[in-house]
Parts: sequence; C-alpha cells; structure tokens
Amino acid sequence: PDHELETTVLIVGAGPAGLTMALTLAQYGVSHHLVERYAGTAHMPRAHIVNQRTTEIMRHLGIEDDLMRAAVPNELMANNLYVTTLNRPEVARREVYGRGADRRPHYSQASPCEVVNCPQTVFEPLLVNALRRTGSDVHFQQEWLDVRNDGDGYISTVCDLRTGTTHTVRSRFIVGADGGRSRVLEAAGLHLNGQTALFHAASIWFTADLSSYLAHRPGVLVFNVHPGPLPPQRLGTLVCHHPFDEYVLIRYYDPAREDLTAMTPDDARAHIEAFVGEPLDRVEVKGISGWTVDRQSAVRYSNSGIFCVGDAVHRHPPSSGLGLNMSIADSFNLAWKIALVDQNVAGPGLLESYDTERRPIDEAGVARAVNSLIESMELTDALGLADDQTEEEGWAALAELDEASPAGDARRRALTEALDVSDLQFNAIGLELGYAYEAGAVIQDEAPDRRPARQQVLEYLPTTRPGNRVPHARLERDDLPLSSIDLVDGLQFALLVGRGGGVWREAAERVSGDLGVEIAVHTIGPGTAIRDPYREWDDRCEVSHSGAVLVRPDRHVAWRARQAGPDPTASLLDAIRTILDR
Ligand code: FDA
Repeated sequence: PDHELETTVLIVGAGPAGLTMALTLAQYGVSHHLVERYAGTAHMPRAHIVNQRTTEIMRHLGIEDDLMRAAVPNELMANNLYVTTLNRPEVARREVYGRGADRRPHYSQASPCEVVNCPQTVFEPLLVNALRRTGSDVHFQQEWLDVRNDGDGYISTVCDLRTGTTHTVRSRFIVGADGGRSRVLEAAGLHLNGQTALFHAASIWFTADLSSYLAHRPGVLVFNVHPGPLPPQRLGTLVCHHPFDEYVLIRYYDPAREDLTAMTPDDARAHIEAFVGEPLDRVEVKGISGWTVDRQSAVRYSNSGIFCVGDAVHRHPPSSGLGLNMSIADSFNLAWKIALVDQNVAGPGLLESYDTERRPIDEAGVARAVNSLIESMELTDALGLADDQTEEEGWAALAELDEASPAGDARRRALTEALDVSDLQFNAIGLELGYAYEAGAVIQDEAPDRRPARQQVLEYLPTTRPGNRVPHARLERDDLPLSSIDLVDGLQFALLVGRGGGVWREAAERVSGDLGVEIAVHTIGPGTAIRDPYREWDDRCEVSHSGAVLVRPDRHVAWRARQAGPDPTASLLDAIRTILDR
C-alpha cells in the first residue's frame, strides 16, 4: 500500500486540545491516531484555570472525579492579592472565581461543576491516563511533517524522532491540535490575523514554603504593585500551582535588554525573593521558560477534511484564563460532528458548523483576554502609580489609601472601581458558561441576548434558547441526584419533554428509524422516572407541558418546540434534517 497506517482521524499534538479530541473520539468509538513530537506532556505549568464548562466536559468524559482529586479546589482559589511585597499586608484583596458571597450562588445554580486550578503539568497526564484506559494512546516523539490529498483521503508524513525515519498515515480527517506554531494550519492553507509578540514574558517555576505569607489568604494570583519605574508589576505576578509550596513567578521583560537563556537559578531565586520581600529558607527552581503575548485568530478553522483547534487557531494573553478552556471546547464541539459524519448519520455540512460555531466564541474570548490585560492597568492607575514618578512618589500615592482625608476617600473609591472592573476577568461566569452558538448546527427561534456587554460577561442566564448549553437543573432518578446536563449519553441526542410530552416518544422513534440517529427521550416531572424536586427544570426549560428541548451530544440545545404542534414527527424530522445536513 501507499501508506503504513490507516485511521479515521489523525490528531496532531497532545496538548489539552488534542488529548480532549482523542478522548472524546474514543468515547464515541471513532478510530484515531494521536501523534506528539515531544517525548512527554507539558514540562512547564502554563495554563491552570479550569472553568466550569471545562469541568463539565471532563464530567461528560467520565473523569470529573480524577480532575477533582488532582486539582486545587475552588475554596483555595478565593483571593486575588495586590501586594508591594509578599511579606507586607496586601494593598488590596478581591474574592474571585465565584468565591464571593454575592457570586457563589450564581456559580452553584449554573452548574454541578466547579472552577478549579489544575496546571497543565497535572492536567495533561490525567488526560493521557484516561485515554490509555480506553485502549487508545499518545504516540510520542512522532512529528507530523506534511500532507497530501490523493482524492480519497489524506496521506500524512510523520517522522519518528527516535530513529529519524518517516512513515505515512492515511486518514479521512486531520485535526491540527498543534498549538502556537501550527504546521497543520499552514498546510491546510489557513492563516491567522493579528499581532505576535506584543509582550515577552518569562515564567519561573519553583517550590518554596510560602504558607506563612499565603495560608490565611489563599488564592491563585498575587499581583505586584510595588512603586517605582514601570513596567507596572515590575516584580511580576505569582501564580499558585500547588498551595502553598509550588508557584510560578511570571515577569514581563524586554528581550533587547535581558537574555532569558542567561538566567541562572540564582538569578531566578533573586527575582522570587524580591517579590517576597525577604530571603526564603529553601527555594528550588524547577524550570524557566519564555513566551510571548500574542493576539491572533484564524480567519477560518477548517478546509474540507482538515480542522484546526486550540492555540492553532487562537492565541492571546493568559489574562481571563481562557486558552486551555477554549481549546478543550473547540475539540468537544468538533468531535461529535466528525463521529456522526463518519457514521454517515450526518451530511458533510455538519462539519462546516465547527467553524461557524466556535470562531465567533473564540474571537470574543481573544478580545476579552486582551481587554482584561489592558484593564488590569486601571488598577495601578487607581493606586496612583505612574511610569513618570519616582519610587518615593509612588509610596506617597499608596499611603493615601489609608488616609482620613478627601484624597484618601477618592483613592479608595478609585480602587473599588478598578476591582469591580477586574471582575470581568476573574468572575466571568457569563463568558465562560453562557456563550451561545448563534448559527451552525442549531435552529434559532429567538433574537440573541441583548443585555449590555458587561452583564453578559458577569452574569449567566439559564436558557434553552438554541445554541446555549442546556441549563443545569437538579433532578433525581431512582432517588439518585443527577443534572439535566447528564441526560445525554455518548453520541445520542436527548429530547427533554414534560409530563404531556408522550407524543414526542413516538416522534423520536420514527425519526431515529428513518435517519439512524439515536434520540433518547427523557420525561421530566412528577410521576415520571426523572423527578424535578426543586422545580428547577420547570423554571428553566422555557417550554410548555407539551413542548420539547432537543440537546446535542455536546449538551448544547439544537432546537426546541414551545409546545407540540399538530405533527410532532414532522417537526422533529425537519429539525434533525436541518441540524445534521440530511
Ligand atoms: P498546546 O500548545 O498545549 O499543544 C500543542 C502540542 O502540539 C504540543 O504538545 C506540541 O509539541 C505539539 N506539536 C506541535 N507541532 C507538532 C507536530 N508537527 N507534530 C507533532 N506534534 C506537534 N490558558 C488557560 O486557559 N488558563 C491559563 O491560566 C493559562 N495560562 C497560561 C500561562 C502561560 C505562561 C502560557 C504560555 C499559556 C497559558 N494559557 C492559559 C494558554 C494555554 O497554555 C494554551 O492555550 C493551551 O495549552 C492550548 O492548548 P493546545 O492543545 O491548543 O496547544
């Protein structure tokens, strides 16, 4: 044969996006082959904020418990701190990630899952182990080189870096999950808009006992607001990877003036101790790495059977913590579509909806991350820190915060306002959970959310309006708790109906029979198998007793009927045909 290996989906890159793609395809029983050029998973922590939607996706993949065991729990993410040095009382503290008493109910009503802190160095091995349990695996030290299309599929050339030899892999689809310098994107003739290297940053990963500084005010991020010549936060930002002994210190630097490769562990230790404000007993520097802040989005995410996901199609600053989360969401959006097209249950048009659905959401994420970075400067302004002042002037401005004077009142008011703005970055449940696919594999029946942008970021609105993730409601089956987001299994669609929804059962059977698509009908309410003890589904479903909500395998609503019309079978058939391009 003209190739050595054959598979349905060749996945390039075993970062969060590629591993999620492999794990989801494994769940759907789609053959795949995952190649990764490095010998192992991420060697530096990088991304770590796992938002509620990502934890939900891990729940759908059966590994929420693994994640909860491995991750730093939500309680220990409570506080953002702003300090001059760590050994002094903080200048400001803000509750984040849904921990504030005012925010907590929004988070727990919106999802059965938590925001957690799980560095990539911990998260990726967890995904690899889960993948191995399915019988699949990552093929490490295999570099994807290029591809040709012989009219019948793709033939990729892959280099085995251990031996230097190449082999070919034939596949029906290729998923480029190959990160910031995606070769797959280029080979597919796709390109990005935007700018690279807006800033240069260095991450210093270390272990040290910081409990005496942080145990009474645990959190993920400590921002430095030490007075003195800018860049602001010149001493860096401290990121918790494991409380209170493993951290990353991120510093922006100027590559024209500083050579990162020349940084020794002693230099790194000096940076850490400057941030802390005093010498530490024991510091172990585990790694130093440089990276750039980019602002880029791909103009298109796919070209016929080649799809790009994750950092391959969007790059942005770590502010807002969206990179890993959007990358995982891309894969989870695409995997079921590939599976249904591969099984001939859906037409090729379904694959087009990956770009239509994900690109606007990711573009909004890139814009938010950049705005979050810009907005974070407002805090230094509010504190009276400026780039043209001396260190003494900076200290004098900070001292005003404690003054019993009109200037003190004004300074405190400005600080509160700046902290309110930071909610857009750190309490952004609307952005993280409330995004909706306006077009694609959905049938819209209502105008989009027209609330002010700020509200859309900060507040999650449970709704079955098509395109949204189906709202969470606490339900019970056989006296065991479950969520309305749990009612989809594998590649099934779920049709959620109320007590008068019997007509939908027959409709679903007919449509399943005609089109070969699995539709599980769940009746929710009193006297049925699934109870709605707190009437949360009743409150959130937005359809009448005879209506129905059609949920896709990725838990987004595809279509809904407010009530059963004269011919439910015809309307369901019509909806599924449109959604699946049949
Ligand atoms: P990723 O880059 O992780 O993986 C791509 C993989 O493809 C790599 O393993 C690479 O080796 C492999 N590969 C590339 N070319 C190949 C080829 N030709 N053949 C085979 N393999 C190939 N995000 C977030 O959500 N929250 C956060 O808090 C942060 N914080 C953060 C901090 C720092 C310092 C950085 C640098 C980044 C973040 N991010 C983040 C962003 C996050 O790290 C990033 O968005 C995700 O890792 C993207 O995941 P992907 O799987 O798309 O790419």
